[in-house]
Amino acid sequence: MVNKITIAIDGFSSTGKSTIAKLIANKYNYIYVDTGAMYRAVTLYAIDNKLITSDFFNVEELINSLSKISLLFKFNKDLGFAEMYLNNINVEKEIRTLSVSKLVSKVAEISEVRKKLVAEQQQMGKDGGIVMDGRDIGTVVFPEADLKLFMTASADKRATRRYKELIDRGDKVNYDEILFNVQERDRIDSTREDSPLLKSDDAIEFDNSDMGINEQFERICTLIDSKLF
Ligand code: DC
Repeated sequence: MVNKITIAIDGFSSTGKSTIAKLIANKYNYIYVDTGAMYRAVTLYAIDNKLITSDFFNVEELINSLSKISLLFKFNKDLGFAEMYLNNINVEKEIRTLSVSKLVSKVAEISEVRKKLVAEQQQMGKDGGIVMDGRDIGTVVFPEADLKLFMTASADKRATRRYKELIDRGDKVNYDEILFNVQERDRIDSTREDSPLLKSDDAIEFDNSDMGINEQFERICTLIDSKLF
């Protein structure tokens, strides 16, 4: 009998990967790692240090700065999940803004950035008992994962979810801008040269355009339980 497995969740942006991953982690007492938060934190570093704007990107300087970027997840008991710290500062809120979302795919294309983050992710998951979500978890980070899920939903459904999330937080955003950002990130994430977003052959696909969170969670728990016993 296996006690602690490795669960890889990949898929397009705003498909509810992190919601499902957090529920799984709580139920099975697993570590949850949101790898998108790590790419977002590196992007925030690049923005804060004026290395990237919508029409400028000093890739070389970002690569040179990578050794100065420390990323850490710290569990927040009140929230029930880990928050992202960039060089010891809690950046959980800042990394979710549209200005970071607009630039993160460009940063995530850089192989040196991916190399650093993938190595850190593999280290976090080396003992199993982990649920990790992202774009390349089942293909690159943990190709031997025990369970691989691939989440999809229509761009319109995803943009609507994201729009509601940002409005609920009090951000001033416009729906068309969010839809454009979702589609643009799909395009860049799926067509980049290094580790593009791909469904690996052994991943189970979930289209949750019309599936509620409870149904998805129940189905996924059945899949996990079948691996445990
Ligand atoms: O999951 P997210 O939307 O927070 O991810 C933000 C961006 O980071 C996404 O557009 C692509 C990139 N990313 C990636 O390239 N590889 C990962 N494992 C996770 C995210």
